[in-house]
Amino acid sequence: MLKQEVNELLTQTGPGTPMGDLFRQYWVPALLAEELPEPGSPPVRVKLLSERLIAFRDDDGDYGLIDEFCAHRGVSLWFGKNEGNGLRCAYHGWKYDVTGQCIDVPSEPEERGFSQKVKLTGYPLVKIGDVLWTYLGDPEKRPTLPEWEFATVPADQTFTSKRWQECNWLQALEGGIDSSHVSWLHSGGLKSDPLFKGAKGNQYNLSDMKPFFEVADAPGGLFIGARRNAEEGHYYWRITPWVMPSFTMVPPRGDHPIHGHLWVPIDDENCWVFTFDYHPVRALSADEVQAMKDGYGVHNEYVPGTYRPLANKDNDYLMDREAQKRGETFSGVKGIAAQDFSLQESMGPVVDRTKERLVSTDAGIIQARRRLQKAAAALRDEGVIPPGVDPEHQKVRSASVVLPKDEAFIESSADVLKVRPGVAQASV
Ligand code: FES
Ligand SMILES: [Fe+2]
Repeated sequence: MLKQEVNELLTQTGPGTPMGDLFRQYWVPALLAEELPEPGSPPVRVKLLSERLIAFRDDDGDYGLIDEFCAHRGVSLWFGKNEGNGLRCAYHGWKYDVTGQCIDVPSEPEERGFSQKVKLTGYPLVKIGDVLWTYLGDPEKRPTLPEWEFATVPADQTFTSKRWQECNWLQALEGGIDSSHVSWLHSGGLKSDPLFKGAKGNQYNLSDMKPFFEVADAPGGLFIGARRNAEEGHYYWRITPWVMPSFTMVPPRGDHPIHGHLWVPIDDENCWVFTFDYHPVRALSADEVQAMKDGYGVHNEYVPGTYRPLANKDNDYLMDREAQKRGETFSGVKGIAAQDFSLQESMGPVVDRTKERLVSTDAGIIQARRRLQKAAAALRDEGVIPPGVDPEHQKVRSASVVLPKDEAFIESSADVLKVRPGVAQASV
């Protein structure tokens, strides 16, 4: 349970809010690279941390992320014409380059240099892996570029998708660090999903419905271990890293690719979920990539031409009561991702955490909230750079391991929870 003011502090990320300032310390995913595929691509509207922006690529292929609204009289530059070295407003032709600098005001004599005095807010936009990353903070404090393993392995080893989720970022993230729901909500998928099935670990997941949780601090956030019974004298551990503010990885299954998410606030009632799947040492097979594109694993099917999931709140997530009755799905909703976001959206746009009743399996969630609150306060009061900004904090992996009962997961797994280039993930 949280006090109302703490719930507001953690869930509000607009300009000038403590959590908004915290998010503005990090490089965050803004778009998929496929949204701006080539020089001169049409501009794309992007809302992040409650700021309305336009992304575009000029004819040199340079990326820009600038204020959506023209400095003249506030028209949306989404209607603009992407032309040569900039984007020209559709109303009276003012033109802006990728930094937001105005470079042409056709009505004014050029020799007066009026355009040079006009600049829109502009943020960097950098392609790493399948993702275009931005940094919405103070340019003087811009950190080193992100080095997440999923974004830096060779292109044929990784796949990223994104979806629009219609609720606050924090309740979505909390679903990512609460692996106690897997044995219930996702029980059907473990048996049939092509990106999960066949792993030995699935049997432990399904036969022990009462995991015990242990949480360990990490430089960038937490490692959350979920322990289930395995063979005589052993435990099966599923270990999820959370790196601040909003990166999580699902523990792997067998030789399937590892997946995870980055949750980015659009505004206080919506978020983007960037979902990746990668294998540290091998190319993804054509079948695996097709399964991801078809919405299996933790990916989605979409309303054509959008990043809105096909199953969404306007169609009751395509609820199938018969499948629920037959036990094919636990909630009646098909697909791991839709199972998650349907329930998270059902809590309302921002869940009222003054009314919740947390239990021992929520230990990871409780710790994560504390770390976020502490980091936001340290930044606000003392200017402390938060955990997770340093790329060294980003070099983590999830793991699934079977350990003798008397071993501490965090000590026995210390090596496998680090990125080890050329070495496969630890997985059961
Ligand atoms: S509103 Fe953009 S040029 Fe006039
Ligand atoms: Fe889930």
